[in-house]
Amino acid sequence: MSEHSVENGRVPRHLAIILDGNGRWAKRRGLPRLMGHRAGLRKLEEMVRLVKREGIRYFSVYAFSTENWNRPKMEVDGLMSLFRYYIRRKVEAIKAEGARIRFCGRKDKLPPDLLDQMRWAEERTANETVLDFILCINYGGRAEVMDAVNALVRARQAQGGDEQAGPVTEEELRRFFYLPDVPDPDLIIRTSGELRLSNFWLWEAAYSEFYFTDIHWPDFDEAALKAALADYAGRERRYGGLKP
Ligand code: FPP
Repeated sequence: MSEHSVENGRVPRHLAIILDGNGRWAKRRGLPRLMGHRAGLRKLEEMVRLVKREGIRYFSVYAFSTENWNRPKMEVDGLMSLFRYYIRRKVEAIKAEGARIRFCGRKDKLPPDLLDQMRWAEERTANETVLDFILCINYGGRAEVMDAVNALVRARQAQGGDEQAGPVTEEELRRFFYLPDVPDPDLIIRTSGELRLSNFWLWEAAYSEFYFTDIHWPDFDEAALKAALADYAGRERRYGGLKP
C-alpha cells in the first residue's frame, strides 16, 4: 500500500475508467481522431503506474465496446493496430511494475493475430500480483450477462438437465462471467463529460460509485486522478442498508 492510501484510508480496491474523449481531444487540435487514440494510449501507460502507486489492486479500462465495431473501418483498424502495438511494445514494462494483464470481453470478431498476442501477454504476466490491469476489449455488459446465461444453460444441460438443480442463484451465474474472481468496481470514472455507463460493467456496477469529469481522456492527469480518489474517499457506501 502506498503512503497516500494509508493516509486517506479509503482507496477503491477496483477502479474502472471509461476512457472517453480521445476524438474530441484530437478535433480540438485539428488532428485526426487516431492521434487522439494514440495520446489516450500514452495516458493509459502513465495511469497504470499512478494507479499502482495509489495502492489500487484492480484497474479496468473500457477500451473497445461491442458497439464500437459500428465506427468507420479506418478507425476500427487503427484501434486494432494500436492494441497490437501496445501489447508488443509495453508488456515487459507492465510486467516490471508487477501488473498482470487480463483481457475481458468477447473473443469473436477480433483479428486472430491480435488474439494470439493477447493470450501471450496474459501468459507472460500471469504470475504478477501487485495489480490486475484489465483491458476490456470487445466488451459489452449485456453481452457478458447473455454469454454467462448461455454458458450456464449449457453446463446444466451437460449435467443431465436442470430438474433438480433448482433456481439459478446470483453466485451460480457469476461463475460464468468473463472474470469471476475480480471484485465489482468500487469506483467508475468517466471522462469527457458524458453521464452514462454505455454498457460497461452492467451487472457489476450495481453498487459502484460514479465520478464524472469534463476532462478529455488524453488530458486526465495525476491531479485529476487524485481529485477523483479524494471524492470517492468522502463517499458513504451503504449498499441499500442504513448508516452504520
Ligand atoms: C473513446 O474516445 C475512446 C475509445 C473508443 C478508444 C480508447 C482506446 C485507447 C485510449 C487506446 C487504448 C489502448 C489499449 C491497448 C487499451 P472517443 O473516440 O469516443 O472520443 P469522442 O467521444 O471524443 O469521439
